Amino acid sequence: MTLMHAMTTTHYQKTRIPLPQVEPRSAIPLQNLRIPGPTPVPPAVLAELARPVVNHRGPEFAAILRRVTARLQYVFQTNAPVLTFPASGTGGQECALVNLFSPGEHVVAITIGHFGNRFAQIAERYGLQVSRNTFPWGEAADQAIVETRLHELAPYRGVLLTHNETSTGVTKDLQTLSALIRRHNPDALIVVDAVSSCLMMLAAGPRAWEAKAQARLPRFYFDWARARASLERGQHPVTPPVSLFYALDLALEMMLAEGLEAIFTRHRHLGEYVRKHVRAIGLHLLADPVSASNTVTAVRVPEGIDAKALLNMLRERDQVVLAGGQEHLSGKIFRIGHMGSCEVRDLFTALNCLQVRLKECGFAAGTHREERLAQW
Ligand SMILES: Cc1ncc(COP(=O)(O)O)c(C=O)c1O
Repeated sequence: MTLMHAMTTTHYQKTRIPLPQVEPRSAIPLQNLRIPGPTPVPPAVLAELARPVVNHRGPEFAAILRRVTARLQYVFQTNAPVLTFPASGTGGQECALVNLFSPGEHVVAITIGHFGNRFAQIAERYGLQVSRNTFPWGEAADQAIVETRLHELAPYRGVLLTHNETSTGVTKDLQTLSALIRRHNPDALIVVDAVSSCLMMLAAGPRAWEAKAQARLPRFYFDWARARASLERGQHPVTPPVSLFYALDLALEMMLAEGLEAIFTRHRHLGEYVRKHVRAIGLHLLADPVSASNTVTAVRVPEGIDAKALLNMLRERDQVVLAGGQEHLSGKIFRIGHMGSCEVRDLFTALNCLQVRLKECGFAAGTHREERLAQW
């Protein structure tokens, strides 16, 4: 029923919904947002969102879509068209699965945390036969175990991987894992969720497009073929969030100006900085530094400290926002995000505040402050 229709029915008049009594809108605080995502957005990119909206079937939007697609191909280092479905990360996981597989097909999910499990759950919900190869949270996938498991399993069509497991701050060695999978099953479809390490866009190689032609899982909104056909006309199959494309356009321009290698180096640097200083405070990391993520760091909550109270204190008094743990790690870890628009000075401030508040909570904090920012 449309709103107009609803407003003209007698039913509406009889059961009129009163004006809602809501809290007044208030200013959004400027915070040191150190969660794994959403991440802070540079002011210039935010300003793009304020530009006038154009026709999504017109030439202005077509130019933006062409530019965005070409730049995404560069970021993903692929010749295949990169598809942009307006959706969250979960939508991206679902989008990949429904285009690649048919009901009842066997896939292996190598999962090391919450988001790997979600990938497996979506596959199960769509009627795939999922063999989970799970590892303890905080650990990377052990390659020898993966190899043995792949040998034991019945033939499988695909393998689901999470590149950067945001719930635990662990990054998988994709190159080694993919080589191992390829050795065992050269035709396997390797499906990678890179939401918190790359971007939530859909980059499918030739093998995936071939698979798509056979795949029979139901799909409509997320259909790659419709998206690709529209893209060739400089359009989107549905009404896209035009303003978000303005912001994406500039964000990509800024990324390319910084350079991919420079971005990787900056993140490596940020990851090392956080790990070093978290340890200097006297805290323990969840992940082994060898597989620790350079975009999010999971820190064990010290014995006797109330994680929720600590994070509340940081948010209310210091405007430093950290993320808690998920599922069984709730209250046991907190996570510090350092992806995207992030500099050492943001982390320096966040870690100083963390150290002070931990001390107030009774934890004998270490020496983070003695490390000089200038060294970085
Ligand atoms: C690796 C990974 N996959 C999937 C998701 C799900 O994304 P969303 O919550 O945006 O649906 C997230 C969200 O943090 C993630 O980090």
